[in-house]
Amino acid sequence: MRHLMSPLDFSVEELDKLLDLANDIEKYPEKYAHACAGKKLATCFYEPSTRTRLSFEAAMLNLGGSVLGFHSGDSSSASKGESVSDTIRVISCYADICAMRHPKEGAALVASSKSSIPVINAGDGGHQHPTQTLTDLLTIRSLKGRLDNITIGLCGDLKFGRTVHSLINALIRYENVKFVLISPEELRIPDYIREDVLKANNIEYVEMEHLEDAMPELDVLYMTRVQRERFFNEEDYIRLKDFYILTKSKMELAKDDMLVLHPLPRVNEISVEVDDDPRAAYFKQAQYGVYVRMALILTLLGIEV
Ligand code: NCD
Repeated sequence: MRHLMSPLDFSVEELDKLLDLANDIEKYPEKYAHACAGKKLATCFYEPSTRTRLSFEAAMLNLGGSVLGFHSGDSSSASKGESVSDTIRVISCYADICAMRHPKEGAALVASSKSSIPVINAGDGGHQHPTQTLTDLLTIRSLKGRLDNITIGLCGDLKFGRTVHSLINALIRYENVKFVLISPEELRIPDYIREDVLKANNIEYVEMEHLEDAMPELDVLYMTRVQRERFFNEEDYIRLKDFYILTKSKMELAKDDMLVLHPLPRVNEISVEVDDDPRAAYFKQAQYGVYVRMALILTLLGIEV
């Protein structure tokens, strides 16, 4: 039995296969419409979510399966003091696969150690968000045609943004990927990513504060929201929340074929006037999230179509 805790749980070859499957699902959805008939997905979300939970549910429904679950800790027995370990043992009796989001780093890993069904980490605190990374990889590969030879700018809250941490981990495995890390001083990438991931693997990266300086060289710009819920005080959040706002005029500095991605939800960091720019791919990205989660469910359940 396999779980998904980090994007590194799949080898590059396995990831390629998974992304190929997602592209096939996009092209021929009817082929997969009954692949999970009789199977159930549990979505156990202890933290708010729109895209991740609903795209998981849409994915299972598109595969002909069913879904059950809860969407806040308050509406589950966690509010009575039940541990994640006990909860997953019980859910293992009700469902065939589980997607879990939790505010604590490592919660999904703890669950997977007690589970008798595959557990998917749908975001654990400020740590990792592997299925967002699968979505990001599918989006970049489908729209740019490659995952190697790219310069990617990651902009915003690089400290608390788990999507950024997972995406860097995944992309260093491809040839000639350069990272431009754009953040205010206080929201720089955590040391463990700089030292153990980037430096340890001799990956080319620069850190900078001004988005304008980075724009001209980027193939992909990955914008992120300042993660309010992980701040210790509201004043810091208010001071930093509008540090970056991507506008039409900043887009003029970029390459004609640069892609703008964002895991969403957007707050203020991309002006709505950018939405009509053909390079804005963040809503398309949300659609890719369904195909890749369909591919992931099939893969973890060992179902071949
Ligand atoms: C992200 C998350 O939950 O980390 N959202 C998502 O799943 N698409 C990004 C965010 O909340 O900023």
